[in-house]
Amino acid sequence: MARANGKVILFGEHAVVYGVPAIAAGVDRGVNATAARADQATLAIGARHVAPDDGSDLGRAYSALLSAVDAPPMSTHVESRLPAGCGLGASAAIGVATARAVLDAMTEQDGTATEPPERLTRVLAAANAWECVFHGNPSGIDAAAAALGGTILYSREDGARSLHLRRALTLAVAIAGPPAATREMVAGVANLRARRPEIVDKALEGIHAIVRNAQLFLRDGDLPSLGQLMDLNHMLLSGLFLSTEEIEHACGLARKAGALGSKLTGAGGGGAVVALVRDPQPVIHAWRGAGFECFATTVTPGCDPDRGEHDP
Ligand code: MEV
Repeated sequence: MARANGKVILFGEHAVVYGVPAIAAGVDRGVNATAARADQATLAIGARHVAPDDGSDLGRAYSALLSAVDAPPMSTHVESRLPAGCGLGASAAIGVATARAVLDAMTEQDGTATEPPERLTRVLAAANAWECVFHGNPSGIDAAAAALGGTILYSREDGARSLHLRRALTLAVAIAGPPAATREMVAGVANLRARRPEIVDKALEGIHAIVRNAQLFLRDGDLPSLGQLMDLNHMLLSGLFLSTEEIEHACGLARKAGALGSKLTGAGGGGAVVALVRDPQPVIHAWRGAGFECFATTVTPGCDPDRGEHDP
């Protein structure tokens, strides 16, 4: 069984598309996949079945992924525990788990061994080929976070590096409204940049500074400062028209319930909000009271993806 994690971006989404580094943390919800050689290529994601030539984006993405690793026709089955399109990296996690399952079937491995660097490179290339069909211009952070787990610093230029945290981070995550297409949200920022470069470039500079400082506070385990940086990062993302009323409502509820900071995570326009908390219970209670689907997760200090999701 091949596996990949979902993720939350703690700092730097959108800016990462323009080369700014970003910080992402894996969540324990993820995707499992199995693949076997077949006469014809097919992909099943839960109850949905697609084929490379059926005209669907999923079919095209599967075809791109198989080509990227020179795979023969494969029948692949995917089970995802991540809500789609909410900023939790479901699409990239499906791409990574599918790539791993296909490579396992090609090499007759069972996917439990540690992944050597050259295989990780192939997995990321295949997952990014998959992502390009949906997103047009993915930075690669979602696929890197899905493949590596743990907490990573990622940039287009330098790729991913694991970050060591002084202290565990307790996060509360809510789905604040229907998801928006990442492709459209990324295109929205690109259009704004074409019309008003000074606005977007100032925001990118601000986010870059936030990511730099966040690395120091993560290293020192300074949770209140990290929370403040999350609020600031959210403000800059809102200034790029990436927030919504529901996102603002969810962030506001979290802060009122004692969160150290709160922001949209991922593409925005709907989807997930993340809050840094000392105790998830009051935030989860406030969100549930307002009808938001939500959960809590802990990001552990090491570089490993060993973290637990819990339901307080
Ligand atoms: C989406 O999870 C993150 C974005 O920065 C897009 C990307 O990096 O490809 C919005």
